[in-house]
Amino acid sequence: MLTGKRVLLVISGGIAAFKALDLIRRLRAEGCTVRCVMTAAAGEFVTPLSVAALSAQPVYQDIFSLKDESEMGHIQLSREADLVVVAPATANIIAKMAAGIADDLASTTLLATDKPILIAPAMNVRMWHHAATQRNIDTLRGDGVRIVGPARGELADGESGEGRLVEPADLVTAIAAALSEIGGTTPRALTGRRALVTSGPTHEPIDPVRYIANRSSGRQGHAIAAALARLGAETILVSGPTDLPDPPGVTVRAVENARAMLAACEAALPVDVAVCAAAVADWRVAAETETKIKKSGAPPQLTLIENPDILATLSRHPDHRPALVVGFAAETDAVAQNAAAKRVRKGCDWIVANSVAAGATFGADDNTVSIIDAAGQEDWPRLSKAEVADRLAVRIANSLGRPS
Ligand SMILES: Cc1cc2nc3c(=O)[nH]c(=O)nc-3n(C[C@H](O)[C@H](O)[C@H](O)COP(=O)(O)O)c2cc1C
Repeated sequence: MLTGKRVLLVISGGIAAFKALDLIRRLRAEGCTVRCVMTAAAGEFVTPLSVAALSAQPVYQDIFSLKDESEMGHIQLSREADLVVVAPATANIIAKMAAGIADDLASTTLLATDKPILIAPAMNVRMWHHAATQRNIDTLRGDGVRIVGPARGELADGESGEGRLVEPADLVTAIAAALSEIGGTTPRALTGRRALVTSGPTHEPIDPVRYIANRSSGRQGHAIAAALARLGAETILVSGPTDLPDPPGVTVRAVENARAMLAACEAALPVDVAVCAAAVADWRVAAETETKIKKSGAPPQLTLIENPDILATLSRHPDHRPALVVGFAAETDAVAQNAAAKRVRKGCDWIVANSVAAGATFGADDNTVSIIDAAGQEDWPRLSKAEVADRLAVRIANSLGRPS
């Protein structure tokens, strides 16, 4: 997908620097040439030897090294790239970029380049929210620098919040999207296709302040939208409330409840493929009140009524039934049997079945799934949610074939 593309990766000195190794591996697997510049601080977290071995290129660290400069000067380094990526980007390098400071090879290269730059910030949550960092980010955005993340979640220092480096698979998506915006990549398997993905939980209102929800994090659905976009599909993600950043290259429609999710899905039709990964609430409160229910007297009796069934509606759509409809079945017991029955009941083509017994899947980084279709059942090993998404996107591309 990135065959022949050249990325100059600047690795700065944050705790997430080790993830740059996975990023290099993934970019090279996509056919990309990766040349790396490391700051001195980055060398405290990962060894230049690992970076050189994975990139199969010399690593550049020192602006005053006769060897580095004689082999490849900082001007030339930045010229011989289609895209410059800074991952992870520390608060320090972001500040230096915003101020135009050039006091080492990495910052000098970033100032000397005339190529597009994408940065993936990663730092402690308070460093990220500090007024200085936010000011610097605004400056960089104004300078045309692309910014991906940071993501929200557990941070290495034990705190949680915004500050995590975007996962390497999603960084590859962002890099592919940036490269494709810049100058067009080779045609990808889902180019010319439209995809609809639902993700996350729904919030079903009880009154203006309370709602019924579920434990879905949206990670799997968001990863699928990113993977489909990475293969070139024009992708619309209809998402319930989540903490996740918008996947790169995807049009996101944010909704609260099941009825709004259905309306957004129907508005997105026609599509070639619909992947319904959202955990849509089966029921909602029959009579949502317009004012807050007061805590006086007896507890209220809530009557539940059924929500619309989005998967079944899309699968049996009279006018715009997608060529391929994929549902998800989160089951706690008899996973495969229940999922197979659900496929027939809903009228969809495939069901991705996963066990959510004892919280095994909701919010986790990985997932064990089986794909059930008319031909039978395919069990996949335990994979990261990004890998499940990649495999599913490739399976979808193979099933749809080339657009006519
Ligand atoms: C253990 C440790 C972890 C660190 N993690 C981060 C981080 O994730 N993000 C960040 O902006 N700075 C982090 N720092 C601080 C940077 O290493 C420091 O600001 C350094 O000057 C960055 O240099 P560079 O931007 O040239 O790579 C960390 C420091 C230490 C000691």
